[in-house]
Amino acid sequence: MDKILVHGGPALRGNVRISGSKNSALPILAATLLTKEPCIIHRVPDLSDIHYMLTILSELGCEVERASGTVQIKAETVITDAPYDIVRKMRASVCVLGPLLGREKEATVSLPGGCVIGDRPIDLHLRGFEALGAAVRVQAGNVKVLAPELRGATINMRGKFGSTVLGTDNIMMAAVLAEGTTVIDGAAEEPEVVDLADFLNKMGAKIEGAGTRRIIIEGVKELHGAEHTVIPDRIEAGTFLVAAAICGEEVTLQKVAPAHLVSVTEPLQRAGYFVEANCDTITVRRNGGCLPLELETQPYPGFPTDMQAQMCALLATSQGISVITEHVFPQRFMHLAELKRMGANIELQGATAVINGVDQLSGAPVMASDLRASAALVLAGLTADGVTEINRVYHIDRGYESIDDKLNQLGAKIERVKGSK
Ligand code: EPU
Repeated sequence: MDKILVHGGPALRGNVRISGSKNSALPILAATLLTKEPCIIHRVPDLSDIHYMLTILSELGCEVERASGTVQIKAETVITDAPYDIVRKMRASVCVLGPLLGREKEATVSLPGGCVIGDRPIDLHLRGFEALGAAVRVQAGNVKVLAPELRGATINMRGKFGSTVLGTDNIMMAAVLAEGTTVIDGAAEEPEVVDLADFLNKMGAKIEGAGTRRIIIEGVKELHGAEHTVIPDRIEAGTFLVAAAICGEEVTLQKVAPAHLVSVTEPLQRAGYFVEANCDTITVRRNGGCLPLELETQPYPGFPTDMQAQMCALLATSQGISVITEHVFPQRFMHLAELKRMGANIELQGATAVINGVDQLSGAPVMASDLRASAALVLAGLTADGVTEINRVYHIDRGYESIDDKLNQLGAKIERVKGSK
């Protein structure tokens, strides 16, 4: 297993190019199952989660070709049973259920278990499939959905922690080939849902309202091949914004969608950083001290849960007391224990982290527990005194394309040690 050594201290400056969005690309790749014709997807990031998705699609019968950031997929004939060995490695595999059900009227995928960020049920996805007329059976660790025919319905996707992103994606992908009209109320409004809807519409679907709480889908008989470019990764971008805030002189993010990042740039400005957005760039500059913040994670357009850990790393060395409450995944705080090992003063009260900023963190051996927690540890290491050794970095490779190279180009000193335990 690789590990990463972050030598704290160097200031970051320069430009960094943001990759295509992981969380857009995953369901968009799954959506190619909806047609027999070839689809071409550009700006697909080179990540292990994407690799898992492409492997699942190959196992389901798709022809997959990949050349740098472009993937071509042809799903002329498909099987409907997703292989457990690959599916279990990535929770997002669940988003093949919707397109398989839409096209073949049946699908079997192993049921995702919990993960370190908390219990991760798919009850809302299943409730939506049932509303479309599917029978749902959970047996031997698998979920099987089967429908002699799919009929449009009105479906409410809100659960006790808000809407569901992949649940909304799954129902959209099943409903595009259902008979009649489907209305998704309480739909997730994330930009990744809009990107998927844009791709489906290019394939011939009739979807309106993506990006709002009500999505209306007029079922069509069949979809055709399409070409699409994935939107910029707002969480990778947000992570670089925080890196720049932690130890940047002046950093410019290129090829971003500033409108998707307001919930991150606005608190950074409130904390005292200079942030300037142009059409597809954002520049961050240190502007004196960093003030404490009070933040709550919320579904889009609120402050994203996928940025909570990185923001904890920033606030760990901001003067005063900051408070972050996690409303989307209330148990997503595994990074706190590791930040504390680096000298952070953080107390967890229920789903709220109370962070009393310290002057300086110190490098330490730490353990990555999930994707965003690992990113937070890298960010903390950039400003810590000495060397931070981050183990289990395969987590970070699931969602950040060459994060070490990109930070090094900005002036950081990060080494990747291959093959160590
Ligand atoms: N939930 C339910 N029932 C369901 C589905 C979700 O109760 O059937 C709950 C979840 O437990 C959670 C909340 O609803 O409390 C929101 O979960 P959601 O379904 O929206 O999460 P997801 O679609 O599985 C995506 C991203 C996550 C991101 C969340 C929230 C992908 C591949 N994953 O997951 O990204 O945290 O939305 O924005 O799009 C990451 O990239 O690091 C990551 C974890």
